Amino acid sequence: MANFHRVVAIDGPAASGKSSVARLLARRLGYSYVNSGAIYRAITWHILQRGIDAGDTERIAQTVEAARISCRFRNSESHILVDDFDPVEHLRDDRVNENVSRVSSIPRVRKTVVREMREYARHRDLIVEGRDIGSVVFPETPYKFYVDASPEVRLRRRAAEGQRDKIAMRDRADFLRPISPLIIAKDAQVIDTSHLTIEGVVKEIITRLKEMGLPI
Ligand code: CDP
Ligand code: CDP
Repeated sequence: MANFHRVVAIDGPAASGKSSVARLLARRLGYSYVNSGAIYRAITWHILQRGIDAGDTERIAQTVEAARISCRFRNSESHILVDDFDPVEHLRDDRVNENVSRVSSIPRVRKTVVREMREYARHRDLIVEGRDIGSVVFPETPYKFYVDASPEVRLRRRAAEGQRDKIAMRDRADFLRPISPLIIAKDAQVIDTSHLTIEGVVKEIITRLKEMGLPI
């Protein structure tokens, strides 16, 4: 990819294991890890914190475009700051879970976030996980994976974390939105993780990356 370092894209629905797999894979390969959902969550928190209605598209777009969004890599993992504040403790709040799909469906918000992520890839090799990483953000990378698991398994995984996150609602919104919906990119490799451990998924991805010629 012109001007970009190597990027491994991992997309999939909620609780399919993207973050856990991406984090471990990044360690194994010595790459940095970017959780794109955390960027949309940080932005959503910022919007709600300012009392802006999640339906006020114009005001949200203006606020996001005016915000200073920056990324610090700590232990090779992305941390997003909005106007110099790191909202990491709030990213899984119920109100963020409930509004993030709506905020992230706004085209100008997505444009800002996509630009950010492409910038990160100018400086380091990355594992990036999300919904549109292989299809829209880094369509040029040959290293694309779509991880999935049955809805029952995914719900169980979230519940085991003690979360009340209504993942079916977010999934529906993410699949159905007109801009950058969650799709399986045509050249992505699909892995059903329903019966695999995190380690098992990482092993499978590494095997496939080697087959594709990525030096590991
Ligand atoms: O961890 P989980 O899969 O539950 O969610 P996440 O990756 O933190 O993403 C939270 C929300 O951000 C998703 O439900 C999407 O609405 C949005 N998102 C997106 O639109 N595009 C991405 N590349 C990543 C997340
Ligand atoms: O990022 P995403 O929402 O796709 O999933 P995650 O946060 O990485 O994983 C959700 C939960 O499922 C975590 O508690 C993981 O430890 C667990 N998990 C699992 O038990 N087996 C897998 N193959 C993948 C994830």
